[in-house]
Amino acid sequence: MQIKDVLATVNTEFSAVDRLIHDQLASRVPLVEKIADYIVSSGGKRIRPLLVLLSAKAFGRADADAVKLATVIEFLHTATLLHDDVVDTSDMRRGNPTANARWGNAPSVLVGDFLYSRAFQMMVELQSLPVMKILSDATCVIAEGEVLQLTNVKNPDVSEEKYMDVIHGKTAMLFEASTHSAAALLQLNESETHALQEYGKELGLAFQLIDDVLDYEGDASELGKNVGDDLAEGKPTLPLIHAMAHAGEDGRMLIRQAIRKGGLDDMDAVMAIVRECGSMEYTRNKANECRDRAIAHLQQVPDSVARDALIALANIAVERTA
Ligand code: IPE
Ligand code: IPE
Ligand code: MG
Ligand code: MG
Repeated sequence: MQIKDVLATVNTEFSAVDRLIHDQLASRVPLVEKIADYIVSSGGKRIRPLLVLLSAKAFGRADADAVKLATVIEFLHTATLLHDDVVDTSDMRRGNPTANARWGNAPSVLVGDFLYSRAFQMMVELQSLPVMKILSDATCVIAEGEVLQLTNVKNPDVSEEKYMDVIHGKTAMLFEASTHSAAALLQLNESETHALQEYGKELGLAFQLIDDVLDYEGDASELGKNVGDDLAEGKPTLPLIHAMAHAGEDGRMLIRQAIRKGGLDDMDAVMAIVRECGSMEYTRNKANECRDRAIAHLQQVPDSVARDALIALANIAVERTA
């Protein structure tokens, strides 16, 4: 299955999400609507809403509430992007200048808050306390993940374990919350819920591992965001953590210095060491392992086209170039 086949599985519901996203951006303050509409209209892959719809469809009920839940999750995601681009001083997102590059940090942070709050307003309408618990817990963990990462910036001593902790918080948590909250909305049994939740978590880990590979190896125009940002900010992601553990003394010291300094001056030298150590392959392998675990959990999900689409999505997440 290609991504177009995955989308075709929930075509009607996916269009309904898109309409609801646009309807729910309305605000009496023009700048709120302008910035929110700007980032939303720039596109995005909409993977998280897709996870909600496919999880619901796999159990036969991708109804109006599932559409609303999918929209809530995309709003939460979009809010984190607005905040993340301020924190990371990024200037490209979804193929356009970031909101912070166009309007500055203050409006970006505040419109991010608006999207968070609008998401919670819609969530309340679902009248499901279990869904509210999953999503309010998740947003706390995401914020903690971003702060934890902030405290690791320019620190070359971050372990692989700490790195995994960060990516679970900042990224995998929302993937996990997407499938978990869909299970809660449908009131699935314990083993079905666990399977969907674990699938989402492993997929999210794989997704961020690949994001961190693409930050070095990807194509900026295809990704719609800059490459090299992680090194520029002194973020110790897995490719560098692996290379530091496997390079000789000189290589190790060079990468440590590059992380401490930040900036892109050492990019070529760092890349040479990373290649020599096979650190990109190591990171990709780790993503593949997460993908395999994600797919294994789907054994608890009834056989259906939606289940096939979830399997395909896991493969697409690790094979992606955008
Ligand atoms: C970007 O997520 C943030 C990460 C977790 C890496 P996506 O790559 O899903 O962003 P959009 O929504 O497609 O722009
Ligand atoms: C994404 O982290 C996590 C969140 C947006 C919460 P990154 O900083 O690695 O994502 P990109 O590369 O900016 O999309
Ligand atoms: Mg970022
Ligand atoms: Mg990134």
